[in-house]
Amino acid sequence: MRLSTLTSLGLLLPLARVYACDDHSHGGHGHGHSAPKPPLHPPSRPLEWGDINIIHTTDSHGWLLGHQKTVFPEPNYSADLGDFASFVSHMKEIADEKRVDLILVDSGDLHDGTGITDGFPPGGVDAHDANELVKMLPYDVMAIGNHELYIYDNALDMHQNFAPALNGRYLTSNVNITITGDDGKPLDVPIGERFVKFKTKHGRKITSLGVLFDFTDNDKNTTVQKVADMVKEQWFEDAIQDEPDLFLLVGHMPVSRDNWPLVFNAVRAVHPTTPIIILGGHTHIRDCVQLDNRSMALESGRYMETVGWMSAKLDQNKCTDAIQFSRRYLDTNRVTYEYHTRKNDNKFDTSLGEKIRNGLEALSARFNLNNIFGTAPQDYFLQSVPYPSNNSLLSLYVDDVVPTALRINNTESSQPALFILNSGSLRFDLYNGPFTNNDQFTLVPFADSFRFISNISLSHATAAFNALNNAGISERRQETGDPAARHYDTIKGYERGDVDRIFNNWLQRMDRETDVQRRDMESLTLGYVTNDSCPGIGDDIPHSPIPFFETPEFIASNPPTGDDITPDTLIDFVYIDFIEADFLEILNGLQTGKNYTLNDTKQYSPLLANAVLGVYAQEKWN
Ligand SMILES: *[C@@H]1O[C@H](CO)[C@@H](O)[C@H](O)[C@H]1NC(C)=O
Ligand SMILES: *[C@@H]1O[C@H](CO)[C@@H](O)[C@H](O)[C@H]1NC(C)=O
Ligand SMILES: *[C@@H]1O[C@H](CO)[C@@H](O)[C@H](O)[C@H]1NC(C)=O
Ligand SMILES: *[C@@H]1O[C@H](CO)[C@@H](O)[C@H](O)[C@H]1NC(C)=O
Ligand SMILES: *[C@@H]1O[C@H](CO)[C@@H](O)[C@H](O)[C@H]1NC(C)=O
Ligand SMILES: *[C@@H]1O[C@H](CO)[C@@H](O)[C@H](O)[C@H]1NC(C)=O
Ligand SMILES: *[C@@H]1O[C@H](CO)[C@@H](O)[C@H](O)[C@H]1NC(C)=O
Ligand SMILES: *[C@@H]1O[C@H](CO)[C@@H](O)[C@H](O)[C@H]1NC(C)=O
Ligand SMILES: *[C@@H]1O[C@H](CO)[C@@H](O)[C@H](O)[C@H]1NC(C)=O
Ligand SMILES: *[C@@H]1O[C@H](CO)[C@@H](O)[C@H](O)[C@H]1NC(C)=O
Ligand SMILES: [Zn+2]
Ligand SMILES: [Zn+2]
Repeated sequence: MRLSTLTSLGLLLPLARVYACDDHSHGGHGHGHSAPKPPLHPPSRPLEWGDINIIHTTDSHGWLLGHQKTVFPEPNYSADLGDFASFVSHMKEIADEKRVDLILVDSGDLHDGTGITDGFPPGGVDAHDANELVKMLPYDVMAIGNHELYIYDNALDMHQNFAPALNGRYLTSNVNITITGDDGKPLDVPIGERFVKFKTKHGRKITSLGVLFDFTDNDKNTTVQKVADMVKEQWFEDAIQDEPDLFLLVGHMPVSRDNWPLVFNAVRAVHPTTPIIILGGHTHIRDCVQLDNRSMALESGRYMETVGWMSAKLDQNKCTDAIQFSRRYLDTNRVTYEYHTRKNDNKFDTSLGEKIRNGLEALSARFNLNNIFGTAPQDYFLQSVPYPSNNSLLSLYVDDVVPTALRINNTESSQPALFILNSGSLRFDLYNGPFTNNDQFTLVPFADSFRFISNISLSHATAAFNALNNAGISERRQETGDPAARHYDTIKGYERGDVDRIFNNWLQRMDRETDVQRRDMESLTLGYVTNDSCPGIGDDIPHSPIPFFETPEFIASNPPTGDDITPDTLIDFVYIDFIEADFLEILNGLQTGKNYTLNDTKQYSPLLANAVLGVYAQEKWN
């Protein structure tokens, strides 16, 4: 068994390097750019253990079944929550052998993203059943994410059913919920706990918080307090007063370009040298920052593609020394997990792991997630191919899927039509092979409806579309607080939860920075190529970056064609209700003949956006 030979390497690489926080050098000990490796490779080197070690997840968004497709790089993220549970158990055994602490932490966004969370039958609550499985993992600390707060019932479920299972370790330092108190009056309470102080297995004292970024699109009867105000609260000052061995600041807030320094500085003002570890999330990227040389802040990606690792050597340190930290971004697959736990494949699964896998399978069956609509003939990519192109998912969607599905299910009109959509309405690639109910949830989670204005000239419609893309429309929407702006990630407003821009910039940067030589190395599989600002190389497995192409914010179908079509031909202009307000405003700005209002618009089809792919697949891919 190939992995057993790894045991003889021992667990620790002799990496007696003390990193200073201003050392931004990369490369370290000569892997990555060296000789080609065989195609199927395990991680590049064992993890570095410290006296305190952390396994970190964030922004899992329901990807508990693992990534199931066979197209690159999906297999590299193929482990499910059961595999992860087995991994954690084995890592805990290793920690025990080494007599060191291992802590399991999550930074939020358990809701929204796959059928396992969103495919619940009518009357259910998003992620409730999936969270029953998450609860089986031995998490030490979890923090709330913005996706727990878009819908009151979800937040209430976290308060009533999830937080109690964490025994005081579900942290919501600046997030409250209003419930009905015993006296029948409204009662404002933290959803979980504001902070926790606990002792590790080996007696280290930890003070922990769970902070949410300044999020504004939370549902009524939930409250998010600004981070700047939170750090002025009396309870906060009291909580950080005693000196623990470690401040473990967990939260749904990115480690770069957000408010962690406010929390960090508040702690540092009282404790200038106490070790601080920050575990953030939300922007879905791999990132690491050191705010000083006795702290490190880690963010561990998204969608269960990444498991973050951090270790710190606290014991040999005097309080003036820089602390030796390490961090690593693991790809979530069994090869990775087995390598780092020195288990071979048939010794890997634990009974808890198997129990969770059975639970996932039962839930998939109950939610009918494996129902196949049709078989996709090829791969269609969201951002790794140009738009428009033959394998662009956006091209397929706007030119074929939407027109076809709405034609099948159109109760209103049969005129020629032009369709416009926002490209953010699609969330993931579509791979060749069976297209399932779960895929439909993953690709288009939004229940948008299609509306239209009839009898618009083709030239006006085309001009309106061009204007939409050029107008910097999103910024305007943000300022006006348009009520249509209710969807989380499609709204170009950071405080409402949009992270697309930051995530896409990250992908674009790794695509641009990677030289041709690395890209052509056959040994490298596709994946993330992280260049963060912590010392050494963070990625556990060296990858070649996924190509990245910019896409326009709005996309339009091919214009109707035919001998009788001219620029003056009157058509149906079909759009998604999400962009209605902007759309009418622009249309009125472009012409003076008619002042279009909501009264001029109608529903085009009863079919909602989150069902068109299924209808299309049934029609075209069978
Ligand atoms: C990543 O995926 C590729 C393609 O399936 C596979 O060859 C490679 O072994 C995977 N890497 C790991 C660590 O599983
Ligand atoms: C908020 O919750 C309270 C207590 O349950 C309820 O009386 C009130 O109507 C709610 N407010 C809104 C805006 O839903
Ligand atoms: C949250 O609830 C607590 C406990 O009821 C209350 O003291 C605090 O003022 C609330 N905070 C906010 C920001 O609403
Ligand atoms: C760590 O940072 C402190 C404060 O900035 C500095 O005085 C000290 O020299 C640094 N130590 C190392 C080893 O870089
Ligand atoms: C795209 O597909 C069309 C129709 O099958 C074909 O004519 C065209 O050559 C293809 N374009 C590319 C770039 O492959
Ligand atoms: C569109 O124009 C046609 C022809 O002028 C007319 O018959 C039809 O009623 C118009 N439709 C609407 C919704 O105004
Ligand atoms: C990493 O990013 C820095 C800028 O933050 C850049 O100077 C450096 O060239 C990048 N390294 C690689 C290997 O791309
Ligand atoms: C168009 O109609 C809207 C809604 O009635 C109104 O607020 C707006 O002033 C009108 N614009 C023009 C140019 O008449
Ligand atoms: C829309 O129609 C309603 C009912 O017919 C009417 O009361 C209202 O004034 C109309 N609004 C506009 C902006 O035309
Ligand atoms: C059309 O949409 C309605 C409502 O969503 C649905 O009940 C019906 O089955 C759909 N018809 C087709 C052919 O998909
Ligand atoms: Zn997220
Ligand atoms: Zn988030």
